This record gives sequence, structure tokens and C-alpha cells, in this order.
Amino acid sequence: MATLGNKNLNAKLVLLGDMGAGKSSLVLRFVKGQFLEFQESTIGAAFFSQTLAANDATVKFEIWDTAGQERYHSLAPMYYRGAAAAIIVFDITNPDSFARAKKWVQELQGQGNPNMVLALAGNKCDMVEKRKVTPEEAQAYAQDNGLFFMETSAKTAINVNDIFYEIAKRLPRMQPMQNPSGMMLTDRPTEATTSRCCT
Ligand code: GTP
Ligand code: MG
Repeated sequence: MATLGNKNLNAKLVLLGDMGAGKSSLVLRFVKGQFLEFQESTIGAAFFSQTLAANDATVKFEIWDTAGQERYHSLAPMYYRGAAAAIIVFDITNPDSFARAKKWVQELQGQGNPNMVLALAGNKCDMVEKRKVTPEEAQAYAQDNGLFFMETSAKTAINVNDIFYEIAKRLPRMQPMQNPSGMMLTDRPTEATTSRCCT
């Protein structure tokens, strides 16, 4: 039974970032609770979905896990266009991947949906002894550029559900009609109700 204030949302989410940063591993952890030491590099992109409950809503994430290899760069707009949220992933042991993440942020802020929720993930935070990017540096960058930042580990599962949960909480709760920006954030009517009281 749907209750008042209970909302079911679909949200298109895209993961972007350097090859090897751990995008697929984060998705695999979030969707299947698994981790592979030898995760294969993504070709093109892969699609997954996962639902989670946040506050008064259930959010069904429709996740596009893109390929970080440079030769796939030109495909990226197909995946971030119309996305409600993006997770830009870097590897805390690899400063080049942090530089690449900043490029993605610039591209999204230039071409993406202006209302997109942007999350910066400093992944592989289990590899403390090889750390090259400090959390302070990444946090300062995120704050200056309107993203939120979390360190994650697909390997140990630290902050993986949390980053998706934080995104779910930040998604604007709008009706499709009031949402002319083209965001793929739509209400899914449940079997029980087709009309709801919107407060
Ligand atoms: P592309 O598909 O090529 O863009 O790479 P990707 O960003 O999807 O990276 P992927 O998930 O394939 O991970 C690359 C490698 O890093 C794999 O060998 C993973 O096992 C490893 N890896 C990913 N996340 C973590 C993590 O949190 N900790 C550790 N220690 N290794 C990780
Ligand atoms: Mg991948």
C-alpha cells in the first residue's frame, strides 16, 4: 500500500572517470555486493539498476557505467545527457585520475543538466599506504565546485551504499510537469495508487 508522501522515483545516473578508477567495481559492489580483484575494463558502457529507500521515497537508479578509456570519450554525452545524477570517480593513489575527474566535472558543468546532482568519489581508500590525493584536497575542490565528496572503497564496501544514498536524498522531488529541464526523474505509480496527494 502506498502511503501519503510515499514516492517512487526513477533516476538516471552516470559514472564517469579515468580508466581503472573503479567505476565498474563501485557499481558491482552497490548492485550485487561483490568485488573482483581483476575486474575487466569496460567496453563502451554497461547498464545496471538498483533501488534504494531514502527518506520518504524509493529511488530506482538506472545506472550507466561508462568506459574510462580515452577512445570512448566521445560516447559519454549519450550517457550523461538527461541524467539526474553523476558520480565522478578517481583513484586516490593516482593523481592523474584526479586531474581527469576535474575535466569531467568541467564537461558536465558545461554541457550537462544544470540541476544534476554531482558526487565526487575518491575510490580505493583502502589503499592508504599508496595514497597520493589527500581527502582535504579533494574536499576543497568539491566544495569550490558544487559537488559533494566521499572517499569510497569498492573492495571493503566503505561508503559505497552511502554515496548512492546521499545522491538519493539530494535528488529534487519534482513532478515531471514541473521539471522542464529534461531530467530523467519521473514518478513511478505503484499498483495501489495512480493519484497522490502532493504536499
Ligand atoms: P574502466 O572500465 O577501464 O573505465 O575502469 P573502471 O573505472 O571501471 O575500473 P574497474 O572497476 O575495472 O577497476 C580497476 C581495478 O581496480 C580492478 O582491478 C579492481 O579490482 C580495482 N579496484 C576497484 N576499486 C577498488 C578499491 O576500492 N580498492 C582496491 N584496492 N582496488 C579496487
Ligand atoms: Mg569499468
